[in-house]
Amino acid sequence: MKIVEVRHPLIQHKLGLMRRAGISTKEFRELASEVAALLTYEATKDLETVEEEIEGWAGPIKVHRIKGRKITIVPILRAGLGMLPGVLDLIPAAKVSVVGLQRDEQTLKPVTYYEKLTGRMDERIALIVDPMLATAGTLVATVDMLKAAGCRRIKGLFLVAAPEGLDRITAAHPDIEIYTASIDQRLNENGYILPGLGDAGDKIFGTK
Ligand code: URA
Repeated sequence: MKIVEVRHPLIQHKLGLMRRAGISTKEFRELASEVAALLTYEATKDLETVEEEIEGWAGPIKVHRIKGRKITIVPILRAGLGMLPGVLDLIPAAKVSVVGLQRDEQTLKPVTYYEKLTGRMDERIALIVDPMLATAGTLVATVDMLKAAGCRRIKGLFLVAAPEGLDRITAAHPDIEIYTASIDQRLNENGYILPGLGDAGDKIFGTK
């Protein structure tokens, strides 16, 4: 299992700003998107490129372009939408596959209520985006869904991850890659990450 805590100074600085009590919706939203872009940069470091010759301003020149059918971004509703602009800033042509899951109050298991995947999932790298990797229940279900659709390369981008969630996703899907700005201390009794960010969805959308 590849778990990368991206300890870049810009990421650390921006995440520190996000942790302040009383942060405005505008600032939290902007920072979520900026950190998402920086995580995307790290998570796409190993994309394969192919060389091709083009006509440059001073004559023919060899350049590189990303190989293959490329990427689908998979925001998990609703908070994952807050990271989408930052990821799209770096990969503007990426297809977006939106998924929505909620916990069944009886079984406590995640149930899919929305799934709109792009075509040819078997040929794409899926970049799941969700601000908080807490219990990993939603993440495990999302990876199950992506694998059922044929996806073979899956990476997840999270602003903050809890050790408990990392253990659970490692046990369920050891073949995926996780990129996070911080591995925090633990989950509290309500499933919130400590010190964490609070309710990321509420902070991104300005709800309470
Ligand atoms: N979802 C959140 O928004 N915050 C947490 O700490 C855990 C899950």
